[in-house]
Amino acid sequence: MEAIINKDKAICDYNKRIKRVVITREEIASAIEKAGKEIDKIYDGRPILLVSILKGAFVFMADLCRAVSVPCEIGFMCAKSYYSGTNSSGIVNITMDLEQDVSGYHVVIVEDIIDTGRTLNDVVKMLKARNPLSLRVVTLLDKPERRVVDFKADISLFTIPDFFVIGYGLDCAEYYRNLPYIAEYNLDADKE
Ligand code: IMP
Ligand code: MG
Repeated sequence: MEAIINKDKAICDYNKRIKRVVITREEIASAIEKAGKEIDKIYDGRPILLVSILKGAFVFMADLCRAVSVPCEIGFMCAKSYYSGTNSSGIVNITMDLEQDVSGYHVVIVEDIIDTGRTLNDVVKMLKARNPLSLRVVTLLDKPERRVVDFKADISLFTIPDFFVIGYGLDCAEYYRNLPYIAEYNLDADKE
């Protein structure tokens, strides 16, 4: 189902499109505290490079980096796999590359959601080819039912069924990234 968002209409129906809260801000915060501790345990004082996949993971990155205690640098990459609606294009474009040379780093990729798995599959392949000391993937959300390529994160905070979610960095046609919780997007609002 492709959400066709007319920007003017999206503004009028803005709240109607937030169907229900799926994960509260408190649940997110406590899961991130746990994930931070898990990362600390894995790296045991060794420095890491947290790599956020923009744009969706920018909010998660901001909270996760403050939940880890090991020395950490941050980096950003922009990977685009969605055009505007709720359907994956299947084509992953790296529109902004990482500035760091990963060969000297323990890399931790920070992603908002794994859906078909295509984005991370491509990003991981690309970064592994640059010979990092090690590479792991942390994702806030995982939708395993939607996978088209075999991909598993090392740390996954929440597993959700196959519905489109917004908030906490995740968008629909660029809106809703600033919601402090994860909500289900109301696809029916697009049919009206
Ligand atoms: P994948 O390549 O299909 O795994 O898709 C990954 C990207 O698609 C994510 O990083 C998101 O930016 C976007 N995406 C997938 N599912 C959702 C969703 O339910 N809401 C918002 N964005 C999503
Ligand atoms: Mg993303």
